[in-house]
Amino acid sequence: MSSIASNRISAAILFLLSLPAARINAQQLIPMPNGITAVSAGTTIQVTALRNDILRVRVWRGDAVPEDASWAVLTSARTSSVRTVPEPNGFATTQLRVTLDDQLRLKVSDLAGNVLQEDAAPVQWKGSQFTVSKTRTATDHFYGLGDKPGPLDRSGEAFTMWNTDSFGWQSYTDPIYKSIPFFMEINHGRALGLFLDNTWRTNFDFGRANPAEYNFGALDGPLDYYLIYGPEPKQVVTDWAWLTGPTPLPPLWSLGFQQSRFTYFPASQLREVAERLRKDKIPSDVLWLDIDFQHNNWPFTVNEQAYPNFSGMVQDLGHEHFKLVVITDLHIASQPRIGYAPYDSGLAGDHFVKNPNGSIYVGKVWPGPSVFPDFTRAQTRQWWGTLYKTFVADGVAGFWNDMNEPSVFDGSTKTMPDDVQHRIDEPGFRKRTTTHLEIHNVYGMENSRATYDGELALRPNERPFVMTRASYAGGQRYSTTWTGDNSSTWDHMRASVPQLVNLGLSGFSLAGGDVGGFAGSPPPDLLTKWIELSAFQPIDRDHSAKGTRPHEVWTDGPEQESIRRRYIEERYRLMPYLYTLAEETSRDGVPIDRPLFLEFPHAIENGTPFDATTGGSEFLFGNHILVAPNPSPEEVAPYTIHLPPGTWYDYWTGERYTRAAKSGGPLDLEQRDLVLAQKTLTVTPTLERLPVYVRGGSILPVAPLTQSTSEVPVGPLTLRVYPLAPGLNTPGETCAGEVYTDDGHTFDFRNGAFARIHFTCSMAADGSMSLAIGKQEGTWKPWWTQYRVEVVGWTPKEGKGSIDGNKSALTREGGNWGITIAAKPDGAKIDLR
Ligand code: NOJ
Repeated sequence: MSSIASNRISAAILFLLSLPAARINAQQLIPMPNGITAVSAGTTIQVTALRNDILRVRVWRGDAVPEDASWAVLTSARTSSVRTVPEPNGFATTQLRVTLDDQLRLKVSDLAGNVLQEDAAPVQWKGSQFTVSKTRTATDHFYGLGDKPGPLDRSGEAFTMWNTDSFGWQSYTDPIYKSIPFFMEINHGRALGLFLDNTWRTNFDFGRANPAEYNFGALDGPLDYYLIYGPEPKQVVTDWAWLTGPTPLPPLWSLGFQQSRFTYFPASQLREVAERLRKDKIPSDVLWLDIDFQHNNWPFTVNEQAYPNFSGMVQDLGHEHFKLVVITDLHIASQPRIGYAPYDSGLAGDHFVKNPNGSIYVGKVWPGPSVFPDFTRAQTRQWWGTLYKTFVADGVAGFWNDMNEPSVFDGSTKTMPDDVQHRIDEPGFRKRTTTHLEIHNVYGMENSRATYDGELALRPNERPFVMTRASYAGGQRYSTTWTGDNSSTWDHMRASVPQLVNLGLSGFSLAGGDVGGFAGSPPPDLLTKWIELSAFQPIDRDHSAKGTRPHEVWTDGPEQESIRRRYIEERYRLMPYLYTLAEETSRDGVPIDRPLFLEFPHAIENGTPFDATTGGSEFLFGNHILVAPNPSPEEVAPYTIHLPPGTWYDYWTGERYTRAAKSGGPLDLEQRDLVLAQKTLTVTPTLERLPVYVRGGSILPVAPLTQSTSEVPVGPLTLRVYPLAPGLNTPGETCAGEVYTDDGHTFDFRNGAFARIHFTCSMAADGSMSLAIGKQEGTWKPWWTQYRVEVVGWTPKEGKGSIDGNKSALTREGGNWGITIAAKPDGAKIDLR
């Protein structure tokens, strides 16, 4: 909506509110070009359409019109609007119908009349606190809310949003580190997202208190929420990225294996770890330094005794193809007048939060008494960014923002007192002072934003890397994240799957858990299984707490090490695929690790997404790969794997799983879902095997093994083709793949310095295969000069091949038949028979 239009609407509302009470007590409907405003008994509701599939709902009482500003929603999205068609009790867009009843209860349906959401009761207010309740049925399923522990499906559970340092959290611990008040409701395959844009303490109950409804509310602040219609869940995720911004394209190295510990001390220990990783040929890219590398735990300092010649050390690691990430906690040691620049410059610039009496708030954290930057001020964030100057000059590649809930050791709340004052100075917001109650949940995100922007200012053509522990909706724009202080238990390894999947659905596509567990010491088998699993998770970082048994890859002897190495190697072979997924997420927000319903929204039984069948233990690594870890990983009994519709191949052996029933002609979509939803496999867990499957119709780009992402692979890019099952192709199923590459670290891709190539394939009735390598998009020259095209599980009938019509020999390598061809920017047509 243009600002003129929005001003007019506000003027209309203000006029209405100025009418004598008797007239506004009756329900009033005021059509707007992009929605409706309705007033009843002193409450106003405004529903507007940002797009035909995205609505914004704002409710207020009296003349307390909430400030129209957001930390999460992009201004471009918030100010978008489409024309709506007025209807007697509401309006319609080209996709949705909105109606309000005389008590201002909201109902949203699709145009076919399916009710997507309906208020169970009028909004309830208790002082400034509010609760919105919606009707719930047994077939409603809820996903999202960030990294909250517990089952993938939030149905029947209740949650609070209040960023909390939760060392050793358990599956029932709530709240933990992040507040992402966004969830997706799915009913019979129809998805609707809901985002409550409120930074105060908020609550969500998905039928725990009353199975007939779900509700959400806040302690204070605006009642301002967005409804995001699918109907496909993938559309909701994409729209969520439209609303709050996607994860930027990360540096390639951040997708490599990362080794951390609290703390490698002194420098010689860090160097030993680096040496051992290379000596043992464990592919790896990143080393991390935790708090002990600092002088007295003071952020932005280095303990010069323990880490002499810090920049020399960073350079040496660089020669070995290691990037260094260091921790920079947000609390600044309260050390006046001794030359500690972060304190002195922060004080001089008035950058620290204050108590109500105007004194600077001091709380105890790792450095002892500490002060806290007011990240809600643009100028404070800018100042914070300058603190990275020396580390950036030293060549430190990325930064870790920990403890930013914020965690405070003294005081009863484990965080700042509620009445600490923040001075909001941010475009879009009124300049005003507010209490910590409003800022708490957004504080960590603004910390990571300051770090991201600071890195960018210091290295304008390098992609920043930040990892934050606390965040809010939209935080994916600035940083990656991890699930905090998990434990070295089988259950925590299992829990990493639903956590990362829900984080991905909530915007944080780039996330990981501490591999091996932070608290406690993993038994050897647990560490091995965890390293296997994390090879298929977006961020793969092994990290552990002080005092725990070491858990680097080589711990526990050569047998365990060789299994662990094999999985990390596989991650590196799949790096072209993983990087292509990261690039996809940077455009459309579709997460790297996905629930099955994202790709198979119609594989449902009784309205239940397919993931309920698997208990949420299986997940997709991109659109082509399914990972099926043991749902009870501590047990050795056989377990059942449920394969979603389609043809599947065992990733390790190439064995194909065709349909259980009905050989012969193509099945229609519905039959296919029914038949294939029942496809199960029983596997006996072994230490060395993580079951992984590839979807028929996939073309995976696979690279020769390297020891780090800065090494240029030697050899061809393999295009591993997993054909659809012959004779069972269903209309709509395609065989396709894609690869994206660029220089891996700058923004030059924005000016066309990238390469994107699409591949398609088909199998004819006579069993011959054809594959098209598309024309390259972008000007970047990829590292490969050849393709090795290989077809999994296929035997040629004639043993002949051709490239663009010219004969070429078929060869068999690693069990698969294929052909090797020169890579040309114009692409090629390949025929194998
Ligand atoms: C808490 C973090 O969650 C953990 O990962 C880190 O090692 C410690 N703080 C020490 O910095």
